[in-house]
Amino acid sequence: MDLPRSIVVRESGSRILNPFDAGKLDTLGRALRLPAGSTVLDLACGKGEMLCTWARDLGFTGTGVDISTAFLADARARARGVGVADRVSFLHGDASGHVAPDPVDVAACVGATWIGGGDTWQDRVAGTVTLLERSLRLGGLLLVGEPFWRRTPPDRRTAEHCHARSVDDFAELPALLDHLDGLGFDIVEAVLADPDSWDRYTAPQWLAVRRWLDAHPDDELATQLRADLLAGPRRHLLYQREYLGWGVLVLMRR
Ligand SMILES: C[S@@+](CC[C@H](N)C(=O)[O-])C[C@H]1O[C@@H](n2cnc3c(N)ncnc32)[C@H](O)[C@@H]1O
Repeated sequence: MDLPRSIVVRESGSRILNPFDAGKLDTLGRALRLPAGSTVLDLACGKGEMLCTWARDLGFTGTGVDISTAFLADARARARGVGVADRVSFLHGDASGHVAPDPVDVAACVGATWIGGGDTWQDRVAGTVTLLERSLRLGGLLLVGEPFWRRTPPDRRTAEHCHARSVDDFAELPALLDHLDGLGFDIVEAVLADPDSWDRYTAPQWLAVRRWLDAHPDDELATQLRADLLAGPRRHLLYQREYLGWGVLVLMRR
């Protein structure tokens, strides 16, 4: 089990694989107001930037789980680079069934709620919080990173430009908050992306792809990635950054 190589190429210039910049990731960690030594489980951890920087700056310890061997190699290198290899560990595997052996203070899924299963955003979010809670100590914090519509797309084509199958594929923010309320959670903190932090996630992918294409013109992925590079900037600048919101909500069981 591994991630498609095209995604690894696209994200090769990034450490944070979500629409947060480093400042927002730091704000989120500090907003939790937890002591050094607090434990974090990060499901679908990507390159482990959240765990590594929180271990370095806040003294947290933690485990990340991801299916991408390439991202995990970067995560382990980053942990060594910032001097926290003794405080964070990274496991290769499908996070959708992963439960920590010991209950943690913080259980997170930031930008991958499909691991919760289901075909609707409601099912994905419900499944993810149910999964995360299985690893959480009583009174611990759940972190869920999820897209939502900042502005309702006027038509299906606009939604598709935002990587949605239809307008119903993502929540409106009021509906997302109501859903979490209905699942029995208090929302105790939130850090939201903005169009500028979206840019920092998406735009570096274009330069990464362009440089990769220059270096690998005959690769079997070249046609697909060339098409991505042609469509990507318009898709993001005209649609995604205008219509799609994203944020991490911090939850506690009521
Ligand atoms: C949008 S990225 C978010 C990564 C990271 N949480 C971050 O914010 O930087 C989604 C991640 O989910 C991982 N992923 C996708 N399906 C997965 C699964 N079933 N189990 C574990 N990881 C998965 C991908 O490899 C990728 O690293």
